[in-house]
Amino acid sequence: LGYKITTTHQQTLTQTQSKTLKVNASFKVAILGAAGGIGQPLSLLIKMSPLVSDLHLYDIANVKGVAADLSHCNTPSKVQDFTGNNELSNCLKDIDIVVIPAGIPRKPGMTRDDLFNINANIVKSLVEAVADNSPNAFIHIISNPVNSTVPIAAEILKQKGVYNRKKLFGVTTLDVVRANTFVAQKKNLKLIDVDVPVIGGHAGITILPLLSKMKPNVSFTDDEIEELSVRIQNGGTEVVEAKAGAGSATLSMAYAAARFVESCLRALDGDSDVYECAFVESEITELPFFASRVKIGREGVEGVVSSDLEGLSEYEKKGLEALKGELKGSIEKGVAFANKEK
Ligand code: NAI
Repeated sequence: LGYKITTTHQQTLTQTQSKTLKVNASFKVAILGAAGGIGQPLSLLIKMSPLVSDLHLYDIANVKGVAADLSHCNTPSKVQDFTGNNELSNCLKDIDIVVIPAGIPRKPGMTRDDLFNINANIVKSLVEAVADNSPNAFIHIISNPVNSTVPIAAEILKQKGVYNRKKLFGVTTLDVVRANTFVAQKKNLKLIDVDVPVIGGHAGITILPLLSKMKPNVSFTDDEIEELSVRIQNGGTEVVEAKAGAGSATLSMAYAAARFVESCLRALDGDSDVYECAFVESEITELPFFASRVKIGREGVEGVVSSDLEGLSEYEKKGLEALKGELKGSIEKGVAFANKEK
């Protein structure tokens, strides 16, 4: 009986899947840095999406094997590999979403800002190519320090005359994923019900979880709030230390980035109920960029959920004021870098 049920279930899944796939698989996604620790599992997760028709993988090394391997999965998207500057423009032609996880990760003892010198140049050169070849694409920046690399990308796109603030996103989904997991564990909640908005930026104290705004509505002691907030802010460092020199979060990051890509694909496909936290150009505070919940539609960011900043707890209000100085500095550092050799 067990076997029969499994077979029927399998058939139903396959039938439903192939029905959906025929209608919907039409979006083209490019991953720049696809052979890396994040890039590989992220490519796999995106290969599983029924909404993707073409998956373009770009890296400066080792990408041919990754693409050959992935291309054997019997999901509809066609996988192609691209390597070296000469192939970058072809990789980016007619792309709907470009995801950028290229760059070096942290080692123990490093802050995300310590990555600036190397990753700023990588993001700059890749975004220049995006501007030239797929100026209408959604751009998802994963490379750290996100608080600076997103402003760099914005400046490069402005210099190229193709900046669309609605389509540039710093990927902060991992902060939400961690917040949901840690809070559900601590309060013994069903994970599926938990949704914690995380605002600010993506480094240390600039990561501000809003436990007062989470779903479901749960009460916390002051100690619990402190403990959870600090753990969410240091989640990345927890992984960096556990990996002891072998890099930073890759699997949970790939999971989080795939969720963000899937949300954007649904938005592009016409779903009018897509909300995610992301680091975007924003008027929600006096800072030019800020992570908050945003509504995403076919044309990108349709609005920010400004009510998240109303009625904050005292702890959150203090956290918000405390993060502004560091975030402002990181944004300005990115802007200055992008404009220094204009
Ligand atoms: P990794 O070193 O394993 O992979 C990076 C990949 O980028 C490598 O395959 C490398 O060949 C490639 N690459 C380097 N320069 C390139 C260029 N010019 N063009 C194309 N590809 C290039 O690093 P990992 O662990 O995948 O991390 C990547 C980035 O993601 C790091 O900057 C890390 O800090 C960041 N990160 C961001 C998170 C977030 O929440 N936004 C979370 C975790 C990591």
